[in-house]
Amino acid sequence: MIDKKIIIAIDGYSSSGKSSMARALASRIGYRYIDSGAMYRAVTLWAMRNGLVDAGVVDADNLVASLGDIAVDFMPMPDGRQHTLLNREDVEEEIRRLEVSNNVSQVSVIPAVRHRLVALQQAMGKSKGIVMDGRDIGTTVFPFAEMKVFVTASPETRAQRRYEELKAKGVKSTYEEVLDNVVTRDHIDETREESPLRKADDAVVLDNSYMTVEEQDSWLLNLFNSIIAGNED
Ligand code: DC
Repeated sequence: MIDKKIIIAIDGYSSSGKSSMARALASRIGYRYIDSGAMYRAVTLWAMRNGLVDAGVVDADNLVASLGDIAVDFMPMPDGRQHTLLNREDVEEEIRRLEVSNNVSQVSVIPAVRHRLVALQQAMGKSKGIVMDGRDIGTTVFPFAEMKVFVTASPETRAQRRYEELKAKGVKSTYEEVLDNVVTRDHIDETREESPLRKADDAVVLDNSYMTVEEQDSWLLNLFNSIIAGNED
């Protein structure tokens, strides 16, 4: 039915549910899904494992000098999900831990890290047919994306969702810890100099604080269908 593939950029705050909705849309329409946050998390994990993060302070010089040693990729799984690979090791589980979440903003403010990952993301979108979620996808990675969505929800709603997720995975944390992490990351993401989290002028805003997963999935699919219909005119 749809022969013209487009690029779909889904940006927004941490734990806004954007990854789940981006993944669901991609699988529904047969596009490739890329979680760009996972790439920043993988680089952060590498830095932590290599002693380049000390009490929340990242040794940016050494990390930048080592970028050539860090390969980040994705591997499709039988259940349709994609697992993140760090130098070919499956680190999907490990990169979601709170210790990584607590350091990832510091790593993602480093311009050379961003340049490298943005170039990789742009290469992944070369043949279109991609849904990518992150913070700067509609503004920096794919400023010409045909469909851009900016997802938001209150910090408390997002912290509660993230807390439930971690609890379900058996990860020990408190709601207060998670809320603190959400608020701190929002601040760093919004105020960093290099491509801060910002709604692209042509992005459509979705506040999903009071939406069910089904409601947001169908909202997104409707938007996609209307853009495709418009493109074919
Ligand atoms: O989406 P996430 O919470 O897994 O992202 C992890 C971190 O990576 C987030 O705190 C900010 C950073 N990030 C970024 O700077 N740019 C992106 N395109 C995606 C994520």
